[in-house]
Amino acid sequence: MEEKKEKEIVLSGIRATGNLHIGNYFGALSKFVRMQQDDKYENLFFVADLHALTTAPDPAALHANVRSIVTEYLAAGIDPEKSTIFVQSDVPEVSELYLLLNMHVGIGELMRTASFKDKARKALGIHSDSDNIESEIIGNESTSKRVNAGLLTYPTLMAVDILIQKAQKVPVGKDQEQHLELTRRFARRFNNFYGVELFPEPYNFDFGGKPVKVPGLDGSGKMGKSEGNCIYLIDDEKTLRKKVMRAVTDQGPTEPNSEPTQPIANLFSLMELASTPDTVEHFRKAYADCSIRYGDLKKQLAEDLVALTAPIRERIQAISGDDAYIGRVLREGAEKARERAARTLSEAREVMGIRKFY
Ligand code: TRP
Repeated sequence: MEEKKEKEIVLSGIRATGNLHIGNYFGALSKFVRMQQDDKYENLFFVADLHALTTAPDPAALHANVRSIVTEYLAAGIDPEKSTIFVQSDVPEVSELYLLLNMHVGIGELMRTASFKDKARKALGIHSDSDNIESEIIGNESTSKRVNAGLLTYPTLMAVDILIQKAQKVPVGKDQEQHLELTRRFARRFNNFYGVELFPEPYNFDFGGKPVKVPGLDGSGKMGKSEGNCIYLIDDEKTLRKKVMRAVTDQGPTEPNSEPTQPIANLFSLMELASTPDTVEHFRKAYADCSIRYGDLKKQLAEDLVALTAPIRERIQAISGDDAYIGRVLREGAEKARERAARTLSEAREVMGIRKFY
């Protein structure tokens, strides 16, 4: 027990909005799996179902989405013997601390958050990319289009996920950096206001390698659900090969040693994640001397992605029907997560002067 206390707490989560793709795998899941191999860390990985409600609440889909992410966590190698796996809403202490922490969060700083502006723009159909869209957001609300207060306070909820477990390391993608910065600011502010050292300041965590950016197959930016350019962990072999073979390319290099265009650079990035260094080297050389055939490159990339995802997909199929197993993992996970959360919540209540009379 003593020993356990000294471990660094690692926490991360993924929003329950659909199946996981290889962007999630390389950006998050594979890191989670690696962290649990190191004895220094106590790991908590959860499914953010409350965060999923901030955009498109969908009761029919929500439960299924939580279930598929838990299944995919397990199938990708997160081991419930080594890590705590839980569902956000199974820890009601999170919701209470979220209310309390909101009393120390400014609506201005929330409105200036990049992810809020993005999602609010989308929800209201605002096309201007002006940075000062606060007044447009307020002015554009109607009965059919509205940005809910939950979306505004998304960073508070995320901060609470982290702070309630007193996590110091939060392995997430670059896109979450601003949320982590806000988390640190809220922690510091709370500690200073009450003159306590309740919340440690959490930092992103990587294994020292280059930050992974997983591009999509459409020749543009990153792989994402809303971009429709994903390879999902559950894609079967045929689907996966078809997607890769259809990936956007260009006319091919016309001069030796030229810089690859964006779509080709993307394919090389994917190859660097999925293939051996020798394979990457082979195709880079072929590109440099203009002998490359994109069809061959795609075939190889598809092959290597299949090799990577097929075992995961098999485990997904094996686990997904096992209600008893999933239930047991989540019950045990919830118990452990609640224990830590309840301790922090009661400390926060005490500090804030919320004390019982009976
Ligand atoms: N915002 C994260 C995402 O979109 C999900 C998330 C919610 C999270 N709470 C968290 C990640 C706490 C890390 C820690 O991916």
